[in-house]
Order: sequence, then C-alpha cells, then structure tokens
Amino acid sequence: MNHQVALSFEDGVTRFIKCGPRETVADASYRARINIPLDCRDGACGTCKSLCESGSYDGGDYIEDALTDEEASHGYCLPCQMTPTSDLVLQIPTTSAMAKTQAGTFVTTLTEIRRISETTYGFTVELEDRGSLEFLSGQYVNIGVPGTDESRSYSFSSGPSALAVSFLIRITDRGLMSSYLRDTAQVGDTVEVTGPRGSFFLRDLTRPTLMLAGGTGLAPLLSMLEKMTTLELEHPVHLIYGVSTDVDLVELDRLQFYADRIPKFTFDFCVADPASMAPNRGYVTSFIDDQHINDGDVDIYLCGPPNMVEAVRSWLHNEGVEPANFYSEKFALAALVPAGVGV
Ligand code: FES
Repeated sequence: MNHQVALSFEDGVTRFIKCGPRETVADASYRARINIPLDCRDGACGTCKSLCESGSYDGGDYIEDALTDEEASHGYCLPCQMTPTSDLVLQIPTTSAMAKTQAGTFVTTLTEIRRISETTYGFTVELEDRGSLEFLSGQYVNIGVPGTDESRSYSFSSGPSALAVSFLIRITDRGLMSSYLRDTAQVGDTVEVTGPRGSFFLRDLTRPTLMLAGGTGLAPLLSMLEKMTTLELEHPVHLIYGVSTDVDLVELDRLQFYADRIPKFTFDFCVADPASMAPNRGYVTSFIDDQHINDGDVDIYLCGPPNMVEAVRSWLHNEGVEPANFYSEKFALAALVPAGVGV
C-alpha cells in the first residue's frame, strides 16, 4: 500500500511524495527528485536524521551512532532506513533549495467571493487538477494578487480533501488583496497560488488539544477541524475564538457544525469590545480554564495577530503552564508570518 509522506523543510516549504510498499522514504524522495540529506544510506552515519511529526513507520536497521534509542523515542528517524506504515509528516533538517526542490505553483480559478461580514471576506478557488495541490491542514500558501506583482499569504480554511480550496481575509482599507476582492474581483479570474508552506499543521492527537484563534486566525483551525471530521478523537478538543468587535465574528455556524459532527469537540467565542452584544466579553485567555490546560498535558494550537500570540505566551508563563506542545502562527494584516514551534 502506498503512503503519503509530507517533507517539511526548514524554509517552510512542504513537498509530498508517495512511498510504495517496503520503499524507504529516502528512495521515494529521490525518485521524486527531492534530494533530502543522505550519505551512507545504510543507517550508519545519521546524516539523514529527521523528526517524524505525525504517523507511524518501521524504523529499519541502524546503529546507535546514527540514532540513539532516546532520539528514536522522541520521534527522530532515519529516512534512509524507515518505511512508512501510515501517512507521515517529517521535518527535514535542510532547506528546500538544498534539497533541489521548491514550492509548487498552481494556476487556479476564482469560483466564489463571499462577503461574510463588514470586515471579513471568504473566497474560493478551484484547480483543474485538484490532487496536485496537497497540503496539511493548518498550512498556508502565497497568493498572487491579480493585476499586481505582489503576493499575500493566507492559510487554507478548507480541509485538505475538499474539492475547492478556500480562504478567509480581513478586509482593510488599503490592503492590496482587500481592494482586489472588494472592488475588482470576478468569478472566473485566474489566481496563482504557491505553496504549501508552514510548520503550523495538525499533528497526531495524542492528548487533549486547546485551539486558540484570533480574528481570521480562525482559518487554519477550521481546516484542522475539517480534518478532524475524518478522525476518531480519543481526547477532547476545545477551541476559543476571540475577535475585536462584533462584526469580526464569523463562521459561528461552521463551528457549530463541527461541534455537532465531532463528538469530543467544543468551542467558545469572545469579543474584546466592552460594548459587544456577545455573551463573553474579553480576551481568549479569560476563557481558558483548568480543564482545558489539563495540568500541562495539552497540545496548544494558536493562530492570531502578533500581539495576541505574545499575550497568550505571557499568560501561560505567568500561570506557570508548560504545555506538552505549543504550535503558533502569527499573522500581520499584510502578510502571514510563520512563528514556528515552541513556547
Ligand atoms: Fe546515513 Fe541515513 S544516510 S544514516
């Protein structure tokens, strides 16, 4: 049976390969002309050592000098020896350029423009060969703004298997993509998409999960929730979605849809504006309780503007909370800035 392997490079580029039965990840990579780091190809030197973020595999034969038991217990692996037993996500310790590969570029067609609220639009594009644009839920792409030489980064709000791919955008007065969508975009326009990119993606759900979204930082978490509809969750997943004002609140129906569809998923939302009509007024940190933190045995996924990401980090620090994993992505209004992993 073939398995899909996502190779996530240090520069944020992700490439996907198919690994055949009993084929090593290294062999499948080179077959796809992706030159991941290799030397001995024999499990002896450790040059290919990578981190498996998600999935299961047979580690193959190697010596302790190449990979210690402790490293293996933390998810490190040797692509020259390993054969996948499920789909995998690997962090490859080099850049895509060093591996002589690059992000894919896709020509898409704009098929829907949705004005969701005064401040937020959604848009959808379709590709002739949808299967060519693979991504992990939570990742983003660079989208060329039609009529300009500029591009902007947006996280997918749709799941990785959806036929069409969708995005959320907060509309700003002078934003290039905002102006395009608000003033000139037409269904049928050609839109160029490059990616996928980013290390903010859903890992294996091995413990309770807390998701925190600020504004249109909700988009990648929606993509993750869509992915979760295909999984059997063993642990609770709770999402807290915070916005500045009532008009920024979007996609509550979709969150409710996931709450109905995913048995262990719950969500809450809050609005910072004291004049809000929402039942919860304040910032997301005001609505995190002990149960969500689970004595630190929790994976946290956070996407929002830089000040929110920093505020959550400070809150966790002040509360003495050290989550098992903390994955975050910051976005500025003009561009999404990957924030990497770690508290
Ligand atoms: Fe030497 Fe994999 S290339 S251990």
